[in-house]
Amino acid sequence: MIYYPLQTLIDAGIKDILIVSGPGHAGHFLNLLGSGKDFGARLKFEIQDEAGGIAQALGLAEDFADNEGVAVILGDNIFEDNMKREAMNFKSGAKIFLKKVNDPQRFGVADVKGTKVIGIDEKPKKPKSDLAVTGFYIYDSDVFSIIKRLKPSARGELEITDVNNEYIRKGRMEAAFIKGFWSDAGTFDSLLRASQLVKEKQNKD
Ligand code: G1P
Repeated sequence: MIYYPLQTLIDAGIKDILIVSGPGHAGHFLNLLGSGKDFGARLKFEIQDEAGGIAQALGLAEDFADNEGVAVILGDNIFEDNMKREAMNFKSGAKIFLKKVNDPQRFGVADVKGTKVIGIDEKPKKPKSDLAVTGFYIYDSDVFSIIKRLKPSARGELEITDVNNEYIRKGRMEAAFIKGFWSDAGTFDSLLRASQLVKEKQNKD
C-alpha cells in the first residue's frame, strides 16, 4: 500500500520524503524501501511513539522541513489524480483536496459556501456536505507553530482537521477538487474498494 502514496508524492515532483510510522512498523518500511534511490526519491524515517494523531506525526517533520513548506500524504490514501500542478504552484497558507463520497461520516467533511470552505467537521454524525477532505495536504512552514498550540481531541489525538480549521479561521486555506478515484483503506470495505480501484486501473493501462 505504501507504494501508492509514495508514487503520488514522486509524481507531484516531491523527492525528499520523510516517512513517519509507529515503532512496530518502522523496520518493515525501512527494509522495503531502503534509501528510496531505486525509485528516485531520498527517504528519511521518523518514529511516532504512540498513535497521537496525524498532526502529531506531522509535527515530527519540523527539522526535516527546515523552514520550508511541506506536502503531506496519509499512508493509506490512494489517488488517481496527479498533484504536480497544485504542489508546484503552492506559495503560502494551506491547501486541502476534496472529493465527493457516499459515506462522509467516516471523514473530515468540508462545510462549503459556494467554492469557499468555511469549516471542517471531523467525522460528523450529520455531515453538512458530501465532500470528504482527502489525505493529501499542503502547508507552509507556519504549520509547525500551529501544531504546537493544538490540544488533543476527544479521541486523544492531535487532529489534522484542527490544523486545517486554524488556517481556515485565518483566511489562509484554499481548497481544490481532485479528479479520478480516491480511497483510503481504513476499514475492510474501503480496503476492498481501494484494491478494486487499483485492479480496474491496472486492467485499463
Ligand atoms: C483522517 C483525517 C480525516 C480525513 C481522512 C482521510 O482520518 O482525520 O479528516 O478525511 O484521514 O483518509 P483517520 O484516518 O484518522 O480516521
